[in-house]
Amino acid sequence: MAAYFLVKGEQTVKGRITINGAKNSAVALLPAALLTEEKVKIDNLPRITDINILLEIMRALGAVVSFAGGRSLIIDGANVDSFIPPETLVNKLRASYYLMGSLLGRFGRVEIPMPGGCDLGPRPIDQHIKGFTAMGAEVEVEHGLVKVKAKALKGAHIYLDVVSVGATINIMLAAVKAEGRTVIENAAREPEIVDVANFLNAMGAQIRGAGTDVIKIQGVRELHGAEHSVIPDRIEAGTFMIAAAATGGELIVADVIPRHLEPVTAKLKEVGAEVELGPDYIGVRGSNGLAACDVKTFPYPGFPTDLQPHMMVLLLKAPGISLITENVFERRFRHIDELRKMGAMITLEGRTAIINGGRPLSSAPLRAMDLRGGAAFIIAGLIASGDTIVNNIAYIDRGYEKIEERFQEVGVCVQRLETGQQ
Ligand code: UD1
Repeated sequence: MAAYFLVKGEQTVKGRITINGAKNSAVALLPAALLTEEKVKIDNLPRITDINILLEIMRALGAVVSFAGGRSLIIDGANVDSFIPPETLVNKLRASYYLMGSLLGRFGRVEIPMPGGCDLGPRPIDQHIKGFTAMGAEVEVEHGLVKVKAKALKGAHIYLDVVSVGATINIMLAAVKAEGRTVIENAAREPEIVDVANFLNAMGAQIRGAGTDVIKIQGVRELHGAEHSVIPDRIEAGTFMIAAAATGGELIVADVIPRHLEPVTAKLKEVGAEVELGPDYIGVRGSNGLAACDVKTFPYPGFPTDLQPHMMVLLLKAPGISLITENVFERRFRHIDELRKMGAMITLEGRTAIINGGRPLSSAPLRAMDLRGGAAFIIAGLIASGDTIVNNIAYIDRGYEKIEERFQEVGVCVQRLETGQQ
C-alpha cells in the first residue's frame, strides 16, 4: 500500500503556525555530536525521516541515542567504534556526507558510499574532497566507496571553487580537531552553517566568521559535551508563507528568525502580498491582485533554491510573464512537467523557467519528484479546482514533519491516505 496526499482545491490558508527546527541544521548537528565522547543534548529536533535514518546510522556506528521528551535528543558517542557507516542507510540520505567530516575528525578515517538524496541534477562532492585533501588526507574513490584516511589532519587554507553548504560544513567538521588553523574562503553563509558553528563552539571548538565568506578554525585537541537548540526551519516557514500568499490567505508564521527569511519576504512583497515583520514572527496576507515578477536563486542571502518550486506555484497565480532562473542546481525543474498536468503554462529555456501566470489550474494526479517540489504540489493543489492527488510522498516526509497535519492546523484539508482508501 502506498501513501498519498489528497488536497482539496480552492482553499485558503488561515491562522497561526509554529515552525519546527531546521532540517538542514539538524542533519549536520547529529554527525557533529560524534566529534566528542561526552554526551550532548540537541533540542528542537524536527521529527522527519531524514533524522530517523541518521539516527539509525549513528546507532549502527555504536552511538547511544535516546529522546528525552518529544524533540530533545541525547547522544552518547562514547562507544562509537566504526568509521564505516552502513551502505544501505547512507544511500537513503544525501546529508550522510557529513559523516565524512565528523568521522574523519574523530578517527582520522572514514569509508562511505557516495551519498544519495534528491535528484536535483549533478551533485558532486569534489569541494568536500578538495578540503580534506588540503588538510593532508588521502582520498580514494573505489567501487562507489569514498575512502578517506589521514595520519594527522593539519589546518589548511582552502578556497572553495563553488559556494557549497555541504563542503563548508564538512570542512568545518574535519578542521575543528585538526592541528593548527584552517581558513575556508568563499565559504557558504547559510544560517544553518552558523548554527553548526555555534554548536561546535559550545563543544569547545574555536570557529570564527561563520555566516561570512571567510571562516577561520583554530584546531583544538578535544571537544566536550554541550547542549544546543536547533534554529527554526526557514524553508518550512517559507513554504507556509508562500502557501498563504498563493491562496489569498492570512497567516502568522511564529517562532522564526525573520532575518533568515528576508529574501523570501522581499519577493512576497514584490508579488503583492502584505508582509508584517515581528521580532520572532512574520505575518503574511495574500492579495487578489498578484503581480508577475522575476526570481533568481542564489546561495544565502539570495533567494533559496529550496523554495524555487513553491515560488513557481505562487507565480502561476500572478497574471503576466514571470521568469525564474535557477542558479544553484541547474536541473532542479522536474516539477514543471507535473504542474503542466494542471494546466500550468511554463516553458523552460536553459536555466530559466518562463511562467505565463494568471490562468486557472485544475486538479490532477501528481507525482513528487523530490522533497521541495513535492511540497509545492500541495500548494498547487490548494489553489486548483477539484481534488489533487500527490503521490510518492516519502520524499516530502524526508524534510517536513507530518505536513498534512500542519496544513490542517491552518484550516485547509490535506489528507494522508493509503491506496484503496477514500
Ligand atoms: C544543501 C542543502 C539543500 C540546498 C542546497 C543549496 C543540506 C542537507 N542540503 O545541499 O537543501 O538545496 O544546500 O542551498 O543542507 N557543488 C559542487 N561540488 C561540491 C559541492 C557542491 O560542484 O563539492 C555544487 C552543487 O552541484 C550545486 C552547488 O554547488 O550546484 C551548491 O550545492 P551545495 O551548497 O553543496 O548543496 P548541498 O550541500 O548538497
